[in-house]
Order: sequence, then structure tokens, then C-alpha cells
Amino acid sequence: MQRRALVAGNWKMNGSRDSNAHLIHDILLEVRKYPDVDVLVCPPAIYIESVGRQLDGSPVQLGGQNLSEQEKQGAYTGELHGSMLRDVGCSYVIVGHSERRAFYGETDAVVAAKFRAAQSCGLTPILCVGETLQERESGQTEAVLARQIKSVLDACGIAAFKQAVVAYEPVWAIGTGRTATPDQAQDAHAFIRGQLAGADARISNSLRILYGGSVKADNAESLFNCPDVDGGLIGGASLKSGEFMAICAAAQSRSK
Ligand code: 13P
Repeated sequence: MQRRALVAGNWKMNGSRDSNAHLIHDILLEVRKYPDVDVLVCPPAIYIESVGRQLDGSPVQLGGQNLSEQEKQGAYTGELHGSMLRDVGCSYVIVGHSERRAFYGETDAVVAAKFRAAQSCGLTPILCVGETLQERESGQTEAVLARQIKSVLDACGIAAFKQAVVAYEPVWAIGTGRTATPDQAQDAHAFIRGQLAGADARISNSLRILYGGSVKADNAESLFNCPDVDGGLIGGASLKSGEFMAICAAAQSRSK
């Protein structure tokens, strides 16, 4: 099954108007060299609109890093409704990133509600799942992935995965410089795909599953060549245009 590659930059809480403008300028100089790759940037919410203006007419897509789980707009101070992300040009939104689960108390139930809220606004959720180091070392990786996937599957149904992306992000690999080996990534991706195949093999087969966690220019190719790895969710390296574009090049040249 040929799945189109996706390389998504999660800028997290980084940047300024000035640094964003430089980064996007440099990305736009290169991005058309990679026509077989969907390229996405997810800036901090306050910058989405200005980044979007700069991206206008380019193939680079825009995404949010988070959204409210509330179905309707209303009195929820500090929150962002999915329709607002759509309004300023987003087509994707990250949900359930491990930093949100760990630092902001997002439970599986909240993540599932955000996944649903995203889709109800026409956004494609990028559902992040992944185990901690302690969970991996105690042999619980598959149980954790199964639980995180099942909570969304139970709440939203398998059909919801037709218009979604999953990102496998082992917590121990995020921002640590310690990347999963291609074998570790492939095993986890195949496991996730297998969990969904139990509900619908066709949907599972067409679902894009990204790897995230210390992806850099020099390890992207070996990760992207794994049969079940369909691209990457890039943190630190997405803030450097040279690194980010080299990762896009690796996605363009993968042997699938
Ligand atoms: P790093 O690429 O900085 O490890 O971050 C990965 C990540 O969390 C992307 O969402």
C-alpha cells in the first residue's frame, strides 16, 4: 500500500515573529523539491495566522498544536475551539502529545474528546501515542499503545481513522537525542496498525503513522524506510530549516 509521506514540524513553545519569518522563508525556498511529501508546520497558536499568510499559495500546510475538547464555543477562558483553527487556515491539529498528557493532565478520555472535536470542525487530528522509558523497560509498551488507541477507537469508532494520522512518539526519545532504532519504530508502528486492522483492515492499511522523537537529518532515512513508517513528527529539528528540509528529502527518497 502506497501511503503518501507526511513530515510535520511541531514547533512547540518556540519562536518569534522574526524567527518564524526566517524559518518559513527558508522552507519555501526548498519545499517544491519534494512533491511526494506532504509538509506541515504547527506553530504556536498566536503565530498561526501570520505564518499562514506567509505560506499562502505554497504547498506547506498549517496545523495547531492543541485545541479545546469542548463541542461548542463559549465561556472557556484561554481555550481555542477547533473552528478557530480552521478559520485561520489549519487543516491538522496535534492531539494527545505526551507533553500535554504529562504536564497538563490530559487523560485518554480528554484526548479522545479532542480527537472528536477536531474532526467535527473538519480538522485532521494527529493522535500522539507512546510509552515512557519506565513502561518500555517493564515490558508494557504494547499495553500502553493498545490502551491509548483503544480509548479513541471506543469513543470515535474505526471510521474516524479514515481522516486521521497517528504519531508514535516514545516519550524517552522526545528531545533527548535518543532515537528509537528503526526496528523499535517498525515494531511499534506495525503493532498500532495491527490494533486498528482488527476493526477494519482497509482503513488501518491506508492510515498514515508518523514516527516522532529526536528525528534528525542523519537518522530520518533509516526510519522512513521502515514499511510502516509514513513520515515524521519533528520537534527540535523542525526549527532549523536545513535539518527540516533534509528530513523532507529523506521522506521524498524513501524506498517505498
Ligand atoms: P523532538 O524531535 O525534539 O525529539 O520532539 C519530538 C516531538 O515531540 C514532536 O512532537
